[in-house]
Amino acid sequence: MTFDETLRKVLVLDFGGQYAQLIARRIRECRVYSELVPYDTPVEVLRALDPAGIVLSGGPRSVNEAGAPTLDPAVLELGVPVLGICYGLQLLTKLSGGVVARTDRAEYGGMDIEVVADSPLFHDLPREQPSWMSHGDAVLETPPGFTLTARSRSLPVAAVEDTARRLYGVQFHPEVRHTQYGQDILKNFLYRICDIAAVWTPVSIIEESVSRIQAQVGDGRVVCGLSGGVDSAVAALLAYKAVGDRLTCIFVDHGLMRKGEGEEVENAFGRHFHVPLIHVRAQERFLTKLAGVEDPETKRKIIGEEFIRTFEEEARGLDGARFLVQGTLYSDVIESGTRDAAKIKSHHNVGGLPEHMDFDLVEPLRMLFKDEVRVVGEELGLPDAMVWRQPFPGPGLAIRIIGDVTEERLHILREADAILLEEVRRAGLYRELWQSFAVLPAIRSVGVMGDERTYAYPIVIRAVTSEDAMTADWARLPYDLLERISSRVINEVPGVNRVALDVSSKPPSTIEWE
Ligand code: XMP
Repeated sequence: MTFDETLRKVLVLDFGGQYAQLIARRIRECRVYSELVPYDTPVEVLRALDPAGIVLSGGPRSVNEAGAPTLDPAVLELGVPVLGICYGLQLLTKLSGGVVARTDRAEYGGMDIEVVADSPLFHDLPREQPSWMSHGDAVLETPPGFTLTARSRSLPVAAVEDTARRLYGVQFHPEVRHTQYGQDILKNFLYRICDIAAVWTPVSIIEESVSRIQAQVGDGRVVCGLSGGVDSAVAALLAYKAVGDRLTCIFVDHGLMRKGEGEEVENAFGRHFHVPLIHVRAQERFLTKLAGVEDPETKRKIIGEEFIRTFEEEARGLDGARFLVQGTLYSDVIESGTRDAAKIKSHHNVGGLPEHMDFDLVEPLRMLFKDEVRVVGEELGLPDAMVWRQPFPGPGLAIRIIGDVTEERLHILREADAILLEEVRRAGLYRELWQSFAVLPAIRSVGVMGDERTYAYPIVIRAVTSEDAMTADWARLPYDLLERISSRVINEVPGVNRVALDVSSKPPSTIEWE
């Protein structure tokens, strides 16, 4: 039996709720595979996907509004257990003949619920449970055939069930951490009601991706671009496990990486894992193109184009490689198409590859969230420094040097940045921070060293906390850490006589300076 046949999945029908993705993630944390699908996916398609359970997500609309997203009632007749959450519960209620209405007792935030019946969903859980609510409409009458299983202080219906048809609904959000027993409730749904075993582990993810890659590429040759980041590294290792020496990795080292990163990739892939690796040392090529360029967008464009050209030249030299491995993540897959087109900086594909290259794409991480990629990376034995590396922009240090990118200025920034990161790591803060790095502005100021007057660059410390880089807050680094960074940078990096701290959040600032 292949792994695929034993992999029983739960589909989350996405009604547009802010927590739909989170539901899928929480289910996966229970070691059960879960995918997000649009709420109007035809019932035949759902049946063909053969889910072991279905979750109806929350949503921003009212079920009584004209044109609000609805559910094909045939989904409830599939014989598959269903859990409706918030809007999902309200739909379930409405479609089954209960009453949903707007109430003047909207509930937002933490709210205790009281379990009032013996329910498999609340198996082994306390009667009173702190829960997270976020709804304006409410269920006023339980539909025929359903039993009330929990209520909240202000509203009569917090959970219902029809155990015969295996339909369950909760008004609160079990996927949100503030719901104290949320994860237990999901486990009860998955393990007790859907009867799924917790078998979706990092080892099983690896086995499954390896057999998928083998099925896709047959005996073809494969190429993969390494960036030094965790996504491309994990994708490459999975491909290597699948096809061995028929994979060649290309690492275009544009010379704009941080201190030691080029060697780290070389050591991990070439020496430790023995993956066939072409390490293209292209600093001179990139610096020549960047000479005299000060405009941030022009820098990005030059680096992006040069990167692609270099990669293509190397790939062309490989005999008959038809497949290209890419580290596309599930969040990119979910967001593509719905992503807001507003362009602040031209991030996408800077330091990446164009979509229209003459290769068939192999995307082993397509169904994984970032934290899952990290767990798989650890399982594959990838060094911690790569697994937990903070995000680093494709154009590298070039967009942290304001103005002209020269070898001398790159050296200053690289050394200062290495000190900053060393101290952040030593303080045990590296993983807590989304990003922490040094910036080299294009100004100089006066200082004094010994008896000498200096006229040298400042270094700016930029450290932020963030969930997803869309918004960020400046990190409150301890004063003694700032002091150590400042004194080491000024003393150890020639050409720097001052250290400043960036205390701006995003928005209105961005994380990077360019
Ligand atoms: P900003 O500066 O817009 O950055 O707040 C948000 C996140 O994106 C990263 N970033 C980039 N990544 N190519 C990339 O691959 C780029 O050109 C680029 N510019 C910014 C940045 O480091 C942060 O994590």
